[in-house]
Order: sequence, then C-alpha cells, then structure tokens
Amino acid sequence: MLVVIKKDYEEVSREAARIVAGAVRSNSQIVLGLATGSTPLGLYKELIALHRAGDLDFSQATSFNLDEYLGLPAFHPQSFHFFMKQNFFSHVNFPSGNVHIPDGTISRNYDEYCAQYEQSIKAHGGIDLQILGIGRNGHVGFNEPTSSLASRTRLKALSRETVEDNRHSFSNDSEVPKCAITMGIGTILDSRRVLLLASGRSKAAAVAKAIEGIIDEDAAYSLTQRDYYRHVLEMTQIFTPERLS
Ligand code: F6R
Repeated sequence: MLVVIKKDYEEVSREAARIVAGAVRSNSQIVLGLATGSTPLGLYKELIALHRAGDLDFSQATSFNLDEYLGLPAFHPQSFHFFMKQNFFSHVNFPSGNVHIPDGTISRNYDEYCAQYEQSIKAHGGIDLQILGIGRNGHVGFNEPTSSLASRTRLKALSRETVEDNRHSFSNDSEVPKCAITMGIGTILDSRRVLLLASGRSKAAAVAKAIEGIIDEDAAYSLTQRDYYRHVLEMTQIFTPERLS
C-alpha cells in the first residue's frame, strides 16, 4: 500500500486523475469502481477535461458504482444515479449500457438483487480500479463501522452520523434515507487496485485509522508516520515507478 500526501484538494484530484487516466489508457476495456460524494468531484472534473481535450476515451470502459440510497429513484437530485450523470457520465463518452449503479427503488428480494450485482461484477471480470472516498466515521461505500471485511453487496442501515451528515441535503427529515445498497468490504477488496481519496481536516481521524490513499495535508494531519510515507513514496518513484502510473 502506498500513501500519497498532496498539498491540497486540487493536487489530490490531479494526481488521482493522472492514475485513473493512465489505467484507462493502458486498458481500454477497464472496469472502474466509482464513488460519489464531494471527494471525487475534482477527479471527475479532471477526467472530463482530459476527455474534452481528446486525451481520454471511455467508449469501451465499464463501471460499477459503490452504492445508492434506498428509496431514491434515479431522477431524485440526491440520488447517486443523478450525481453520476450530472458530474461525470453526461460529460464523457461512457456507454450508458456499461454503467452499473445499484437500483435504489427496489422494494423486495434485496438479497437476490445484491447477489445479482455481485454476479454482474464477476461476469465483467472483476473491478480493475476502485475509487473510494471515506466518511468521517471511516465508512467506505456505505460499509459503516463494524462492517465485516468479508461483506458483499447488501442492504445496509446507515449510521446515525451518516444520516446526520446527509440531513442538510434533503428538504425534510422524512426524506433522509436510512438505508443504502452498498458493495461490501469484501467486494471492494476483490478489486485489483483501490484508490482511496481523502481531503480536509474533518477526515483526519478516519484517515489516521484507515490510512493509505491519496490525501491532502489536512486529511493527513493525524498520521504519525508522515515522514516514513514520504520516504516510501520517494523510494517507489526511484525503484518501482510503475506502481504510481
Ligand atoms: C460515496 C460513498 C461514501 C463517500 C463518503 C465520503 O459513493 O460511498 O462512502 O465516499 O461518505 O463522502 P464525501 O466525499 O462527500 O466526504
């Protein structure tokens, strides 16, 4: 695992975009695992800019999103379907048939639906590169603390902290989702490569516990081994630069 500490959010986004773009260029049929939230917004902007400049082609790529709120249809402005369309898919040439996002409108047979999502990831050969953000309480996807490392895609009750964090985005309390469908930690760990991004002091505690990823100085604030991580990065740049491409 490599920890890459960048000056600020812009640098985190640029470095993440460099890595994702490199992965797409070296494997046009790449299977990407995608995240929503404020953290990857800068990454998506950078990828869109590269695509517009004619430097990045998604025409053969496939994606699987991490999660979706239960109860929100794709057209709901707070749904992750809506987010992905607004912030990424409508700006690049990603074929809509290759995009997979859990359906927040299912109302029964949850386990069966989630097993199908897992099966679909497998049928596409697994995820080559998974993008992750991290919640203040350390959640990735909506795997709240205490989620099993072996967990797979499933219906998950959101923690009180996550529900609180989301409250401001909804006009009334009854609309705030209490559950989500999320890939599991086991699903995420099956990915060939994971890029966890974190930015801002509010993430410092979560990052200190989870560590690893591309983070800015603020999110790295509570790391005790910052000098060692810098040293590892320098050595990696010298001896195994392909790990950073
Ligand atoms: C999003 C997701 C969440 C977010 C996390 C951080 O698809 O699965 O785990 O990555 O809540 O959100 P932001 O980036 O908004 O701080």
